[in-house]
Amino acid sequence: MITVERYRAPCSVSRELYDRACRVMPGGNTRHSIALAPYPIYARSGSGCRITDVEGEQRVDFLNNYTSLILGHANPGVTEAVQCRAVMGTAFTMPTPEEIELAELIASRVGYVEQIRFCNSGSEAVMMAIKAARAFTGRPKIAKFEGAYHGVYDYAEVSEGPTPDTWGEADAPASITEPGTPPSVAKDVVILPWNRPDACRKLIAQHKDELAALLVDPMPLGIGMITPRPGFLSMLRAEAARHGILVIADEVLNFRLAYHGAAHACGIEPDLGTFGKIIGGGFPVGAVGGKRRIMSVFDHTGPLKVHHGGTFNANPVTLVAGLETMRQMRPDAFDRLNRLGEYVRDQLRRLFCDLQRPAQVCGSGSMFLVHLTADELTDFRSLRGFSRTNPIYSDLCHQMLAYGFVLSPRGIFGCLSTPMTEAELDGLVDALGRALRNLS
Ligand SMILES: Cc1ncc(COP(=O)(O)O)c(C=O)c1O
Repeated sequence: MITVERYRAPCSVSRELYDRACRVMPGGNTRHSIALAPYPIYARSGSGCRITDVEGEQRVDFLNNYTSLILGHANPGVTEAVQCRAVMGTAFTMPTPEEIELAELIASRVGYVEQIRFCNSGSEAVMMAIKAARAFTGRPKIAKFEGAYHGVYDYAEVSEGPTPDTWGEADAPASITEPGTPPSVAKDVVILPWNRPDACRKLIAQHKDELAALLVDPMPLGIGMITPRPGFLSMLRAEAARHGILVIADEVLNFRLAYHGAAHACGIEPDLGTFGKIIGGGFPVGAVGGKRRIMSVFDHTGPLKVHHGGTFNANPVTLVAGLETMRQMRPDAFDRLNRLGEYVRDQLRRLFCDLQRPAQVCGSGSMFLVHLTADELTDFRSLRGFSRTNPIYSDLCHQMLAYGFVLSPRGIFGCLSTPMTEAELDGLVDALGRALRNLS
């Protein structure tokens, strides 16, 4: 029986490592999204869909470095590509052919991507897309959805997790900046309410002459993966086009939804898109791509409008890992993974029905997110009380760790990787059933 007691014991290796970490890192951590109370489990290695921790315990990984490892850990093809590349040198003050190959691959799959540029994270990709939109349109503002997460760029972070005391009117949400961001940033970010078409139309029209871009993730995790209402995304696309506002689709997380990407799967044609996670095959990556006429703002051979530096942009190790990953992710691989996603969502629905526990299973493709409520979920505000901060989720997360499964502590969220089969999914659902019964 795998236990969490061992990792929580006073003499546990994770505890010792965390004590050391706290001496040299604030909070003992360099990434808030993986913090876990009382301290994290330290990983030693990963193989396929399993992670082995520093105590030697093995668990099935349903987080996959927050969705980025679509092939699971240490995929043999990716490992070989990285090893071959590493012995040839890892970074140069020169471009490498691999940069062109990954650019060609993404452009061949994503209809609206005629040109692309690489960076090192999804946050950077979002920042570059916003800068490109401002430079192209000559306008200062962006619009984004309340609750949606797009990384850590000042403007993209606005109203990422507002609270009822400050969030303002439902039809005209307040712009709330994060600590450390100048309050002046708020005036250049228009916050839109998810799934409220009339309010969105009005807000867009109100700021139309100043809006450079509308930033939208078609299946936003921060908004509980609540499906956009029929016609909502196409309405946004049409309103943006009418007012000369660019649509930026944030595909950093949801590019794993389908072979042609999330925007295509959700039926919209954006002007720009941001990418990350799976296209780096497990290495740091980001990319911004879109129509040639817009991407030309980065073209140093013309009247350059946006400077784009970055010592490690398009580093060849990331690129070969990304190329190998994307080549393995042929349409049939996406289809199989998405069928497994459908299967696990169905099994979860069945479980909550059997337990007679109110729940809604959201998510799409190879991801699932369960909300423990029967209330109608429409937007970020409707999630209150069932959101990331609910202690029930960290309790469930710890129980699931004890049963041998890695899930998010901020919601019953998980994603699949290609080494998984129905056996791992059945195991997950069975363990979650036991954990939920323990709760009640
Ligand atoms: C939709 C979305 N956009 C942007 C980002 C930021 O990407 P990164 O963590 O690589 O900076 C994330 C990260 O989870 C994301 O989910």
